[in-house]
Amino acid sequence: MQVLRTLAELRAWRDAQGAVAFVPTMGNLHEGHLRLVEAARRHAPAVVASLFVNPLQFGPGEDYERYPRTWESDCAKLVDAGCDALFAPAVADMYPCTQTCFVAPPPLAGELCGAHRPGHFRGVLTVVLKLFNLVRPQTALFGKKDYQQLALVRDMAAQFALPVAIVGVDTVRAADGLALSSRNGYLTAAERAEAPRLYRTLMAVAERLRAGERDFPRLEQDAAQALMRAGWKADYVAVREAGTLAPARAQGGEFVVLAAAWLGGTRLIDNLETVPG
Ligand code: PAF
Repeated sequence: MQVLRTLAELRAWRDAQGAVAFVPTMGNLHEGHLRLVEAARRHAPAVVASLFVNPLQFGPGEDYERYPRTWESDCAKLVDAGCDALFAPAVADMYPCTQTCFVAPPPLAGELCGAHRPGHFRGVLTVVLKLFNLVRPQTALFGKKDYQQLALVRDMAAQFALPVAIVGVDTVRAADGLALSSRNGYLTAAERAEAPRLYRTLMAVAERLRAGERDFPRLEQDAAQALMRAGWKADYVAVREAGTLAPARAQGGEFVVLAAAWLGGTRLIDNLETVPG
């Protein structure tokens, strides 16, 4: 695997490739990321991942400084997964001067996670657009665990006519149902044992949707209260239309149940797509 540290190195590598599939990451890789690389290999002869902890998408007081940086093991995992190149720029390479041009995201960026992390999706879309411009991939792969991010990236690619196909890859879960996430490493042993409740809560909502319940505010409130009774602080539980994240309609097609909640000092997110029964 070639490690590309600078924009010039990336451009030289890119110019020598045909079609490229791209997996953007912030590192601290787990099985979920490796599935993205695996899927990417089916889309193009060359796969490039990026590893960049993007300061633009962290708000004041968030975990930018303590975000886990695990360079050696990330490289080893990518090599094993058959990744051809890793683009790992320094902050000064990605942002040589203060970034004052941003992608202005659509209103969805201010809802759900965006309502609790102001500016987060502006930072995500700005770095993703910049990475797309540098990597010029034919395909880019994103995990469905970050469902809202995936919806916004799809929308940006469509609205800006970006020449890249956006592919969503299913969430990878631990045996007890917890969605794999770099932030799971923040959990204490007791919190880790409690954490699968988030997925069970989503499953309970999905079950009620399948049974025909359509009182969405009631479903959302019941789920948030169940989490809070177990000691969580729920940012939100929401039922939305799958794919677009438009408000759920009683006659809607497929739904997705999304949640973000704090377990101690760790904010976990998860979601579950469901087809009405
Ligand atoms: O999902 C992530 O890891 C990040 O938001 C991304 C897409 C790499 C942009 O920094």
